[in-house]
Amino acid sequence: MEGHGDGKAVSNGIPPPSFQLPYPDSPEVITANVLKLTELAKDSRKQFLIKNLLVHLHQFINETSLTTEEWMDAIQFLTRVGQKCTDIRQEFILLSDVLGASALVDAINNPPVQGGTESSVLGPFFTEDAPDVENGDSIASEGKGDYMYVEGRVLSTDGTPISNAVIETWETDADGFYDTQYATREKPDCRGRVRSDKDGWFGYRAVVPVAYPIPGDGPVGELLLGIGRHNMRPNHLHMMIEAPGFRKLTTAWYPEGDGFLESDAVFGVKKSLVVKLEDVNDEAEARKRGFPRGSSFKLLKRDIILVPQKQSDETFRKNAEAAAKNAAA
Ligand SMILES: [Fe+2]
Repeated sequence: MEGHGDGKAVSNGIPPPSFQLPYPDSPEVITANVLKLTELAKDSRKQFLIKNLLVHLHQFINETSLTTEEWMDAIQFLTRVGQKCTDIRQEFILLSDVLGASALVDAINNPPVQGGTESSVLGPFFTEDAPDVENGDSIASEGKGDYMYVEGRVLSTDGTPISNAVIETWETDADGFYDTQYATREKPDCRGRVRSDKDGWFGYRAVVPVAYPIPGDGPVGELLLGIGRHNMRPNHLHMMIEAPGFRKLTTAWYPEGDGFLESDAVFGVKKSLVVKLEDVNDEAEARKRGFPRGSSFKLLKRDIILVPQKQSDETFRKNAEAAAKNAAA
């Protein structure tokens, strides 16, 4: 253990502050002292963040007259959240998701920009091993669900087609599971990586995704049960699009008609991302897209509008300045 090398306990080497603090004999002085000590942080952003966090934490404890038992419960809950995490299970991200923190951080960091496709939460099911798929090919193996064809163009906010944009896409099968949730997974399924062609077009075969529950077998699941919230996400198709010079877009399309659209457990749905799936019952159209003879399919047709990086940075900077001004007022 640290400090045991020479048999004597040692501090972290930082001397007492040069200023005097009053003894913390009352709640107000405890808060004031803790805030005063944040001035020692050399990194100004770190100082700003920790100070704000402490202001809100102390305010919460004061305003709720938090009991000792409640605080202990909270500590034990967070301990269990940490203990549930493994290499392939991230309970803290799940917690951040159900508290709306992931969606809020995403909303602030990817502000809507003039006509650009809006972002949505990444979720825990993206993997690095999606196979490259040619335009017109399928990301799902046969039998994984009802047929769906996904197509559109990748464009800049000024309407210019973007060629060779990389589109990572992943979804559930008809049972509501991602491939990674199967213990028997041997290779990726219901996920792939396509590229837009010279005119910005992309298209691939997929399956109609279905609504699914986020993992309910951990402390986050218990939390939702305890506060009367369901743990469902409406059906959706994930996409992550990258092209040089443009803001990386992590988003998802949410087919309309799902009963969980307005109460998504992780707050990922935005109105502009709700799509109507077109029913296509035309044999020739099905054959053209590579579906077997006699099949019908759903068509998800949407363009993806990427925001130039410069335009995105500018919007973020303006919003951050306005937020800081608001906080100071
Ligand atoms: Fe998902």
